[in-house]
Amino acid sequence: MKKIEAFVRHESFDAIRARLADMGLPSMSISEVKGSGRQGGYTESYRGAKTTIFMRPKLKLEMVVNDADVERAVDVILELAHTGEPGDGKIFIIPVEDTVRVRTGERGEIVLASHPDDA
Ligand SMILES: Nc1ncnc2c1ncn2[C@@H]1O[C@H](COP(=O)(O)OP(=O)(O)OP(=O)(O)O)[C@@H](O)[C@H]1O
Ligand SMILES: [Mg+2]
Repeated sequence: MKKIEAFVRHESFDAIRARLADMGLPSMSISEVKGSGRQGGYTESYRGAKTTIFMRPKLKLEMVVNDADVERAVDVILELAHTGEPGDGKIFIIPVEDTVRVRTGERGEIVLASHPDDA
Protein backbone atom coordinates (compact mmCIF):
# COMPACT_ATOMS: atom_id res chain seq x y z
CA MET A 1 0.00 0.00 0.00
CA LYS A 2 1.14 3.52 -0.78
CA LYS A 3 -0.08 6.98 0.00
CA ILE A 4 -0.17 9.30 -2.96
CA GLU A 5 0.09 12.87 -1.77
CA ALA A 6 -0.39 15.30 -4.63
CA PHE A 7 -0.21 19.10 -4.53
CA VAL A 8 -2.21 20.37 -7.49
CA ARG A 9 -3.94 23.47 -8.79
CA HIS A 10 -7.56 23.82 -7.64
CA GLU A 11 -8.76 24.02 -11.25
CA SER A 12 -7.50 20.52 -12.01
CA PHE A 13 -9.28 18.76 -9.18
CA ASP A 14 -12.78 18.12 -10.59
CA ALA A 15 -11.42 16.27 -13.60
CA ILE A 16 -8.97 14.28 -11.46
CA ARG A 17 -11.68 13.25 -9.00
CA ALA A 18 -14.09 12.20 -11.74
CA ARG A 19 -11.48 10.13 -13.62
CA LEU A 20 -10.25 8.38 -10.46
CA ALA A 21 -13.83 7.55 -9.46
CA ASP A 22 -14.48 6.09 -12.94
CA MET A 23 -11.41 3.88 -12.44
CA GLY A 24 -12.77 2.54 -9.16
CA LEU A 25 -10.63 4.81 -6.98
CA PRO A 26 -13.12 7.11 -5.22
CA SER A 27 -11.48 7.09 -1.76
CA MET A 28 -9.47 10.22 -1.04
CA SER A 29 -9.07 13.23 1.20
CA ILE A 30 -8.46 16.76 0.11
CA SER A 31 -7.40 19.87 1.94
CA GLU A 32 -6.68 23.44 1.12
CA VAL A 33 -3.05 24.21 1.78
CA LYS A 34 -0.61 26.98 1.12
CA GLY A 35 2.85 26.18 -0.03
CA SER A 36 5.88 27.06 -2.05
CA GLY A 37 7.94 25.10 -4.54
CA ARG A 38 11.39 26.01 -5.77
CA GLN A 39 10.73 29.57 -6.84
CA GLY A 40 10.96 32.41 -4.35
CA GLY A 41 8.20 34.83 -3.58
CA TYR A 42 6.59 37.20 -6.04
CA THR A 43 5.87 40.83 -5.40
CA GLU A 44 2.42 42.37 -5.53
CA SER A 45 1.52 45.93 -4.90
CA TYR A 46 -1.67 47.27 -3.39
CA ARG A 47 -2.16 51.08 -3.59
CA GLY A 48 1.56 51.54 -3.78
CA ALA A 49 2.42 49.21 -0.90
CA LYS A 50 4.54 46.30 -2.04
CA THR A 51 4.27 42.89 -0.42
CA THR A 52 6.12 39.72 -1.25
CA ILE A 53 3.93 36.62 -1.36
CA PHE A 54 5.79 33.44 -0.49
CA MET A 55 2.94 30.97 -0.08
CA ARG A 56 0.35 30.23 -2.72
CA PRO A 57 -2.88 28.26 -2.32
CA LYS A 58 -2.81 24.66 -3.54
CA LEU A 59 -5.02 21.66 -3.15
CA LYS A 60 -3.57 18.63 -1.38
CA LEU A 61 -5.01 15.31 -2.52
CA GLU A 62 -4.24 12.28 -0.39
CA MET A 63 -5.13 8.74 -1.32
CA VAL A 64 -3.94 5.41 0.00
CA VAL A 65 -4.05 2.76 -2.71
CA ASN A 66 -2.94 -0.81 -3.27
CA ASP A 67 0.47 -1.17 -4.95
CA ALA A 68 -1.23 -2.36 -8.15
CA ASP A 69 -3.12 0.96 -8.44
CA VAL A 70 -0.25 3.39 -7.80
CA GLU A 71 0.95 3.88 -11.36
CA ARG A 72 -2.47 4.33 -12.93
CA ALA A 73 -3.52 6.80 -10.24
CA VAL A 74 -0.29 8.79 -10.64
CA ASP A 75 -0.74 8.76 -14.45
CA VAL A 76 -4.20 10.34 -14.10
CA ILE A 77 -2.91 13.09 -11.83
CA LEU A 78 0.06 13.71 -14.12
CA GLU A 79 -2.13 13.96 -17.20
CA LEU A 80 -4.81 16.19 -15.70
CA ALA A 81 -2.71 18.43 -13.41
CA HIS A 82 -0.13 19.22 -16.07
CA THR A 83 -0.21 22.56 -17.88
CA GLY A 84 3.52 22.88 -18.46
CA GLU A 85 3.68 26.13 -16.47
CA PRO A 86 5.61 26.52 -13.20
CA GLY A 87 3.44 25.64 -10.21
CA ASP A 88 1.77 22.54 -11.70
CA GLY A 89 2.49 20.79 -8.43
CA LYS A 90 4.23 17.70 -7.11
CA ILE A 91 3.32 14.12 -6.31
CA PHE A 92 4.83 12.23 -3.40
CA ILE A 93 4.50 8.43 -3.07
CA ILE A 94 4.87 7.21 0.49
CA PRO A 95 4.86 3.62 1.85
CA VAL A 96 1.93 2.74 4.11
CA GLU A 97 2.44 0.14 6.82
CA ASP A 98 -1.16 -1.00 7.29
CA THR A 99 -4.79 0.09 6.90
CA VAL A 100 -7.66 -0.67 9.29
CA ARG A 101 -11.38 -0.35 8.52
CA VAL A 102 -12.94 0.78 11.76
CA ARG A 103 -16.39 -0.73 11.08
CA THR A 104 -15.13 -4.28 10.67
CA GLY A 105 -11.63 -4.35 12.10
CA GLU A 106 -10.35 -5.70 8.75
CA ARG A 107 -6.74 -4.91 7.92
CA GLY A 108 -4.50 -4.66 4.91
CA GLU A 109 -5.12 -4.48 1.16
CA ILE A 110 -8.68 -5.86 1.41
CA VAL A 111 -9.68 -2.61 3.12
CA LEU A 112 -8.77 -0.68 -0.04
CA ALA A 113 -10.39 -3.06 -2.52
CA SER A 114 -13.70 -2.01 -4.04
CA HIS A 115 -16.62 -2.39 -1.76
CA PRO A 116 -19.89 -4.28 -2.39
CA ASP A 117 -21.91 -1.46 -0.79
CA ASP A 118 -20.36 1.09 -3.16
CA ALA A 119 -23.07 1.88 -5.63
N1 LIG B 1 9.43 19.46 -1.33
C1 LIG B 1 8.16 19.75 -1.02
N2 LIG B 1 7.67 19.38 0.18
C2 LIG B 1 6.38 19.65 0.50
N3 LIG B 1 5.53 20.28 -0.29
C3 LIG B 1 5.97 20.67 -1.50
C4 LIG B 1 7.31 20.43 -1.92
N4 LIG B 1 7.47 20.93 -3.16
C5 LIG B 1 6.28 21.43 -3.51
N5 LIG B 1 5.39 21.31 -2.51
C6 LIG B 1 4.00 21.71 -2.53
O1 LIG B 1 3.59 21.65 -3.89
C7 LIG B 1 3.12 22.93 -4.32
C8 LIG B 1 3.44 23.12 -5.76
O2 LIG B 1 4.84 23.14 -5.94
P1 LIG B 1 5.41 23.63 -7.33
O3 LIG B 1 4.57 23.06 -8.42
O4 LIG B 1 5.60 25.12 -7.33
O5 LIG B 1 6.83 22.89 -7.31
P2 LIG B 1 8.17 23.31 -8.05
O6 LIG B 1 9.18 22.32 -7.63
O7 LIG B 1 8.45 24.75 -7.78
O8 LIG B 1 7.83 23.05 -9.58
P3 LIG B 1 7.58 24.14 -10.73
O9 LIG B 1 8.92 24.45 -11.27
O10 LIG B 1 6.65 23.45 -11.69
O11 LIG B 1 6.89 25.32 -10.09
C9 LIG B 1 3.77 23.90 -3.37
O12 LIG B 1 3.01 25.09 -3.28
C10 LIG B 1 3.77 23.13 -2.07
O13 LIG B 1 2.48 23.20 -1.47
MG1 LIG C 1 7.12 26.18 -8.30
